[in-house]
Amino acid sequence: MTVSSNSTILVTGGAGFIGCEISQKLAGSFDRWVVLDSLHPQVHAEGKRPERLHESAELHVGDVTDPRVWDELLESVQPDVVIHLAAETGTAQSLYEASRHAQVNVVGTTQMLDAFGRSGHQPAHIVLSSSRAVYGEGRWIRADDTIFQPGQRTHSQFETGQWDFPGATALPSRASETVPAPTSVYGSTKLAQENILLAWGAAHDVRISILRLQNVYGPGQSLINSYTGIVSLFSQWARGGKSIPLYEDGQITRDLVYIEDVAEAFAAVVTRTEIDPLPILDIGSGVATTIEQLARTIADYYEAPQPHVSSAFRDGDVRFAACNIDDSRRVLGWTPQWDVQRGLAALQVWINQELLTAEGIPNE
Ligand SMILES: NC(=O)c1ccc[n+]([C@@H]2O[C@H](COP(=O)([O-])OP(=O)(O)OC[C@H]3O[C@@H](n4cnc5c(N)ncnc54)[C@H](O)[C@@H]3O)[C@@H](O)[C@H]2O)c1
Repeated sequence: MTVSSNSTILVTGGAGFIGCEISQKLAGSFDRWVVLDSLHPQVHAEGKRPERLHESAELHVGDVTDPRVWDELLESVQPDVVIHLAAETGTAQSLYEASRHAQVNVVGTTQMLDAFGRSGHQPAHIVLSSSRAVYGEGRWIRADDTIFQPGQRTHSQFETGQWDFPGATALPSRASETVPAPTSVYGSTKLAQENILLAWGAAHDVRISILRLQNVYGPGQSLINSYTGIVSLFSQWARGGKSIPLYEDGQITRDLVYIEDVAEAFAAVVTRTEIDPLPILDIGSGVATTIEQLARTIADYYEAPQPHVSSAFRDGDVRFAACNIDDSRRVLGWTPQWDVQRGLAALQVWINQELLTAEGIPNE
């Protein structure tokens, strides 16, 4: 479909970190920008409309798992496009709060689809914010060039400090090559969302686009949610003059992608009118960063003590997560603009402003 000035978009979970940034970028391109969000207390401590949500957004506070919420909303809102962001997002938390994650992520998605069926209106395009968590450990390559997917590291492997897969090197994930094999309940629910939407979309002739996001960071990310956001956690430790503890041997690797680049990717997929040659695309910076490199950059910024290896570990943690963004660049005509150094510096400026405001100290 063509996004015209009289079209309506519905963004579930649109009051969160990513949803607010997308609203700033795209709200002007739509006649109505409707947000359905429960203002989850783990994300929204004060339960208030976030300031970063674009002023034109119509915020409906409600839970995506509740069919009555959907029926009431769809009486007055017939979206042309849906961006589906609402989710429980705690990767480690999902291992002991599995039902809550499955309920919101899986059943929340099916409730949305059933509600479209009941309302008699279906959107032309649904965009899902999926996750690198669907890949688990992804693909690794041995010295003899054979490629394999090693699966999940076991608890006993962790206990003996065997962090890597011996004799092998990790490869960046790519939707067209890497078979999903999640190692967390969260990752499994994100994969279920993908499969449900693809099946439903094919049967109803609704275009489905899936963006698998790597680790998103930047201004607007939660400073209170201890279950997500390693970058914000590290920043607050270093700002407090503490040495950042590094899990395993500090060589856990992530692809850190700046929030503005992520919002640009959503803008590109929503405004594209061509048929999707690849419905699933990876959104990252395309650069692999170890948590040690990340922690040192942040420690240096605050002149905090250098990070230390704690050798602690978390079951289900993925050793290496980074992606190949060649397909996304080609299909979306999108290129990330922020390298980690610049992005981290911008995040620290924002964190300082936020915390000074919270402490009641006026910003210079
Ligand atoms: N931030 C990342 O690094 C990252 C990486 C990969 C994928 N994602 C995906 O992107 C999406 C958005 O993530 P985010 O970082 O903006 O998270 P966030 O927690 O900031 O935003 C999620 C929003 O969903 C809302 N929500 C939660 N449960 C709900 C429910 N039952 N009904 C209605 N609203 C509900 C929350 O109130 C919140 O505003 C999620 O689907 C997440 O899985 C995020």
